[in-house]
Amino acid sequence: MAEDTLGQDFPMQRQCPFEPPKEYERLRAEQPISRVRMPDGTPAWLVTLHEDVRTVLASPAFSSDLAHPGMPAVNPEIRTIARQQRPPFSRMDPPEHSFFRRMLIPEFTVKRTKTLRAGIQSVVDGLIDDLLRKSPPVDLVDEFALPVPSLVICQLLGVPYSRHEFFQQQARVILSRQSTREQVGAGFTALRAYLDTLVEEKLHTPGDDLTSRLATEHLEPTGELCRQDLVASCMLLLTAGHETTSHMISLGVTALLEHPDQLAALQNDLTLLPEAVEELLRYLSIADYVPSRVALEDVVIGGTVIRAGEGVVPLLAAADWDPKVFDNPGTLDIHRGNRRHVAFGYGVHQCIGQHLARTELEVAFSTLFTRIPTLQIAAPSDELDYDHDGMLFGLHELPVTW
Ligand code: HEM
Repeated sequence: MAEDTLGQDFPMQRQCPFEPPKEYERLRAEQPISRVRMPDGTPAWLVTLHEDVRTVLASPAFSSDLAHPGMPAVNPEIRTIARQQRPPFSRMDPPEHSFFRRMLIPEFTVKRTKTLRAGIQSVVDGLIDDLLRKSPPVDLVDEFALPVPSLVICQLLGVPYSRHEFFQQQARVILSRQSTREQVGAGFTALRAYLDTLVEEKLHTPGDDLTSRLATEHLEPTGELCRQDLVASCMLLLTAGHETTSHMISLGVTALLEHPDQLAALQNDLTLLPEAVEELLRYLSIADYVPSRVALEDVVIGGTVIRAGEGVVPLLAAADWDPKVFDNPGTLDIHRGNRRHVAFGYGVHQCIGQHLARTELEVAFSTLFTRIPTLQIAAPSDELDYDHDGMLFGLHELPVTW
């Protein structure tokens, strides 16, 4: 791809918080595979049709390896830091990647997730009790949307409750846009050191949690997993499952409050909850450009030749608003009944925590709107502090009242 024939700059901004950037619609219709310039000036291909996005994500001709020079980076600084460390399994290709998936899949099945539901419900109940003791307006991100996934991941990894404040604080520093590079680095170091100590503790006194199982079944007895990779996997689960779920909770609440007919339909019939969560995942597609890939060989996608070594960004939000697959994609319709969205990705890297995320979202939305039926946003929704700069689309703050 010649640099002088580059197209427009990527990423493009959302004009409306509930819609993918308007440009996606034009590209999908006129130039479904198009060239863009990444923030560091390097070229990449954008893919906008649902069919093509799935083809790229399912194809072994594309790699997730960050070390590959052609890998497109929305945040080149983070890529530089990440390249200095051993990659988490989300950035490995099969067969190395398959080892981690096989090891972790039993922890994230629908069945296993069901056993976590009661714990999630008590986390959500406790946070709403605390919320109701405060006088509104309160920030729903700080008081609810962020702590839900944080406390759930603590339970999953077996972090003792007495350490959850430390854990949550470090996670907050890592995820905050206000944090400096040094603070993020220090947060990572502190968490990694903490998780390493946790592994040590679990080896001596195992509990009924993921860290204990990985340590006692895959680290010590067989040696198939090294300690560094175990800690890196725990870190990945922590970071991948945190801000994603938090943004989905706060944006999902905002979207429902902005569509009172849909919220009323849901409140009248909570059996619609799973469908409503699927539709919100599609409609908001917050992880739009999280998957990035690089071609390992020349490959034709939608009639366009992508050469070996070229970077590709399959746009999840563009795919999830493809009118060939979703009628009136711009309408939030909790009765839609079409689950073909790619909000969790597709192919071998498809989100391992998706059943857990769905459960967290179901419990969060249903409990919040049942226990606080008069919940309102304390500011016009177009004046809220949306996160346009991160890898995920979301809200920094959501002032609410009731
Ligand atoms: C992968 C989205 C929640 C753990 C992914 C990918 C997407 C995604 C799009 C694919 C990345 C790629 O193809 O390169 C989301 C969304 C979530 C969510 C929208 C919330 C609504 C979670 C949770 C966890 C989790 C709760 C775990 C506790 C992971 C991991 C991967 C992943 C470990 C890498 C999987 C692999 O490479 O095999 N997620 N995720 N995610 N997600 Fe999630």
